[in-house]
Amino acid sequence: MENQTVTTTLPRIGEKAPAFKAVTTQGPIDFPKQYEGSWVILFSHPADFTPVCTSEFMTFATLEPKFDELNCKLVGLSVDGLYSHIAWLRTIKEKIAYKGMKDVEVKFPLIEDITMDVAKAYGMIQPGESNTKAVRAVFIIDPKGIIRAMIYYPLSMGRNFDELLRAVQALKAADEFSVATPADWRPGDDVIVPTAGSCGVAKDRMDGKEAGVTCHDWFFCTKKIDKDAVLKAIVRK
Ligand code: BEZ
Repeated sequence: MENQTVTTTLPRIGEKAPAFKAVTTQGPIDFPKQYEGSWVILFSHPADFTPVCTSEFMTFATLEPKFDELNCKLVGLSVDGLYSHIAWLRTIKEKIAYKGMKDVEVKFPLIEDITMDVAKAYGMIQPGESNTKAVRAVFIIDPKGIIRAMIYYPLSMGRNFDELLRAVQALKAADEFSVATPADWRPGDDVIVPTAGSCGVAKDRMDGKEAGVTCHDWFFCTKKIDKDAVLKAIVRK
């Protein structure tokens, strides 16, 4: 199997998330339809009962309330079967203590994908890494079912879940305030205003005539948005 060709598609940012129905640890799922109106992170892991994946699930489940505050639901997937998923999540809850986390209950759905149909539709099977396991993929999908960000990690590398939280915050803030967010942006940091559409506006900005806007050059202008204003716009929205 490792040497066979696997046909997979690669979804793209800005496109509708591929639709599917599947079985999960929380019952049937109709994706992304049943998440309309919420943000959702669909993520894959290579295999149940493996250490990196276990550390990831414990971390994600512990952070779930913070994603919930952002109206962002979590949905996991691997190409294992439902009973493996159930047994693994039970083991995590009953037996694993790690980095101060214990008794961790994974409440978000974990999709069984033994046919690999969903994994292939989302480009999670990457044969250079493995033909038989999903890589660690992350799709951030908006309330209209549009893919807004994608990140892929190899099998050996556990994800940074603070970064995923930051990514959802940044996407929501960019939508709410019609701005972009600079490197390492966190709520309360300055945001980037859209580049001026005319020389006149660019000049006014450079001359300091646009209230609250600071320019590093004509194409790179920032403004402050208070942390409280950002959180008010993105939390429980
Ligand atoms: C892990 O989660 O530890 C793992 C899974 C598949 C390949 C390598 C590591």
